Amino acid sequence: MNSMSVHLSENRRNREAFGSEIAQARHELVAGLSQKSARIAPKYFYDGLGSRLFEAICLTDEYYVTRAEAGIFAAHARDMAAAIGPKPTLIDLGAGNCAKAAGLFPALRPAQYVAVDISVAFLDEAVGKLQAGHPHIPMLAVGADFSEHFALPAEVEASRRVFFYPGSSIGNFTPLEAAQCLRRFRAACGDDGGLLIGVDLVKARPVLEAAYDDALGITSAFNLNVLRHVNALLDSDFDVSNWRHRAHFNEDQSRIEMHLEATRAQFVAWPGGGRQFAAGERIHTENSYKFTPQGFTTMLAQAGFGVTHSWSDAAQQFLVCYARAQ
Ligand code: AVJ
Repeated sequence: MNSMSVHLSENRRNREAFGSEIAQARHELVAGLSQKSARIAPKYFYDGLGSRLFEAICLTDEYYVTRAEAGIFAAHARDMAAAIGPKPTLIDLGAGNCAKAAGLFPALRPAQYVAVDISVAFLDEAVGKLQAGHPHIPMLAVGADFSEHFALPAEVEASRRVFFYPGSSIGNFTPLEAAQCLRRFRAACGDDGGLLIGVDLVKARPVLEAAYDDALGITSAFNLNVLRHVNALLDSDFDVSNWRHRAHFNEDQSRIEMHLEATRAQFVAWPGGGRQFAAGERIHTENSYKFTPQGFTTMLAQAGFGVTHSWSDAAQQFLVCYARAQ
């Protein structure tokens, strides 16, 4: 197949099932906001501004996650390539700006690169730029929410599928959802592929909490921005200035929780409804689970993967695993 950026997605199917992608999002948002404990799914962080704020988070002093992972990739890319084998079909889940995968191209030499992300416009631009720099690697940009549906376009090579799921993105799922997700990766990678995945490790509370409440307020802006995005999708009237960012480590559940807390009582309206929030009431916007190396490799084995190779940094902040299908 020639170098090209195709845009295929689950959107078509959703449109048939729900009338439109937007109608589905509205339905999901109203359902979440109407629960006793209001919630907004973390995928709604990533509108145009949200994707850029997340990039900025990765540059803060406190958010060690991206740097720790990048250090591991830089130090062990050759070992990873040896574990993965030649000519993988590299399928990048939540590709964003595609920078992480691009950094692995020299070592992995993928036969095909498939970038999947929810934020479609952002992805198209990134893949377009990347394709120009790597004209010999066939590329596909796929706009899809793989957390709900998992159908890859027919253009994706079936052999040597290596799913790339870095950045501790799996940490957004509950343990049950994460286990399901890993099983789906195992089913989709065939018997000659695998999963290259990064997870954040449990560490001291102050380090974790600072990473999700940086001094510059970028994580706060990232969290609050979800209300702007919700207003755009739902035509609701959230006033961002009536909310504040909260992040804390829930040790029992081994997860960072992010919430938005109402600074005053208020009614938030949307077409056909709305909700009263009391002062201090919260909207739960994100969980970010933290793992132990033993706990995570056990999850991979339970999902049906065979041999797992793992790499960490000197400070044991982060873990990268290559779980072979067999
Ligand atoms: C992209 C889900 C891995 O949980 O660390 C960063 C998102 N939220 N700061 C994470 C996030 C707040 C990030 N993940």
